[in-house]
Amino acid sequence: MPKARIPDPALLVEPDRVRREVYTDPDIFDMEMARIHERVWVYCGHASQIPRPGDYYTVQIGRQPMMMVRAKDGAVHVLYNRCPHRGAMLCGDRHGNTGEFFRCSYHAWTFHHDGSLRNIPMMESGYAGTGWGRDNPDCHVRHAARVRNYRGFVFASLAEDGPTLEAFLGPAKIAFDDMCDRAPEGEVEVVPTCFRMVQHSNWKIFLENQLDALHPSVTHQSTGRAAREVELEIEQRTGKAPLAYHMLSAFSTVTIDKWDDFKTLNYPNGHCILTGYMGLRPQDPDTLEYERVLARACGEARKEQILTTDIHHVLLYPGLSVQSPLQQLRAVRPLSVDRTLTEIWHFRLKGAPEPIYRRALAYYNLVNSPSTMINADDLENFWKCQQGLSSQGGDWVSFHRHHGSDIAREGGVESAPGRGTSEAPMRNQMKAWTQFMRAER
Ligand code: FES
Ligand SMILES: [Fe+2]
Repeated sequence: MPKARIPDPALLVEPDRVRREVYTDPDIFDMEMARIHERVWVYCGHASQIPRPGDYYTVQIGRQPMMMVRAKDGAVHVLYNRCPHRGAMLCGDRHGNTGEFFRCSYHAWTFHHDGSLRNIPMMESGYAGTGWGRDNPDCHVRHAARVRNYRGFVFASLAEDGPTLEAFLGPAKIAFDDMCDRAPEGEVEVVPTCFRMVQHSNWKIFLENQLDALHPSVTHQSTGRAAREVELEIEQRTGKAPLAYHMLSAFSTVTIDKWDDFKTLNYPNGHCILTGYMGLRPQDPDTLEYERVLARACGEARKEQILTTDIHHVLLYPGLSVQSPLQQLRAVRPLSVDRTLTEIWHFRLKGAPEPIYRRALAYYNLVNSPSTMINADDLENFWKCQQGLSSQGGDWVSFHRHHGSDIAREGGVESAPGRGTSEAPMRNQMKAWTQFMRAER
């Protein structure tokens, strides 16, 4: 990498603004992959994506093709998808079952589920005296330095050193606790269908949008208004419109001035939480039945505690956006400086009645899917930002909104009361970015 061309990252980032090259320079992108995505804890997938021994699921960590594998003893391994012989990828499919062992399609070297070498054709005669064999670590499939499963959510770090997953996530791990605690059985199960979408914009533009409380009532106003019209018409005709309409109409009924009533909590390592948005505890018969099931599982007091947890959205830097009350998860996989793959998943609360799953599915389809107008309007903005930032029409991106009013708390920074549209989350992400990028390697 031509390091000399890259200025000190700290010169690119000021507390309230960021140079445009941070979004457009391919060398900075390479440095981000090496210093952020290929070092910190990155989400690989949910353990329920690979329930049986031999199941694998491929995943990109930074620029590295990896795969998550279930072994016979139930352990989950994260391996480089790369044969130690001549370098072929071991698994060409996105996911599947490899059977008892991996068998490279090129020369039939075989490997156990943990990546260790099982056999090489005619190993004794072919490799006698060469130093190649089971005792040589170079003959095994390389694995991620660290793997950790937190309540079914599997993360890997490609760096030997660094904080534990729990320490890295800090208070943001509530995203997984909140999602799992809402399940009567205390865990969630992935719905195998995943939308994959390539955004024509830098990965940080997506993350900066996630807790951007100013944009919904602007970007999504037209969709919200149309949904509100239909919702009202159904209400007048039948007395009550299905909850799904509320998921969309909220974008127009929560007007721009109301967004300042919400709050963002900003934590070390770039993680952020948005609280206060959208009533998610309706009193319809389906919800009441679910509440009864949950109370039977964990008791009335604990049920109340779980259902009054005030979280709408959690951003786990550098690649996850989780809406735990609606069981939604989006993972970001940067492809290049101006191309970003997003995986859009949703989950089932184990033990909850079917209508609660239907609610998660409705939100998945209506708000997060690539075919909804909500997502389409975001994507257009992301693309427009990338285009504008690639021009010479300006040098800086502004994160000035409510700068100077954020409140420092023990362990984090909160947006001030009545200032929920503060660009504190973006400032917080760029602060973490600068720390990761400057760290000595
Ligand atoms: S490249 Fe895999 S066995 Fe040769
Ligand atoms: Fe949006």
